[in-house]
Amino acid sequence: MYICICNAIKEADLREAARTTPGTAEDLYRKLGREPMCFQCIEEAENVVEDARAKARVPAVVPH
Ligand code: FES
Repeated sequence: MYICICNAIKEADLREAARTTPGTAEDLYRKLGREPMCFQCIEEAENVVEDARAKARVPAVVPH
């Protein structure tokens, strides 16, 4: 299933990125080489990221 139609980002790809990379959904889009465009997917993408991390126990904040 696609989570972001503008960028053809699949939910499975976003979940994998969330498990391995810190940052917001927008950060993960950029990590995948894409930029948010219409932003209609961002709230759902953040929910997917949060759920994936909760299951994988990955920190959501980038250490400085
Ligand atoms: S659906 Fe994701 S930026 Fe438009």
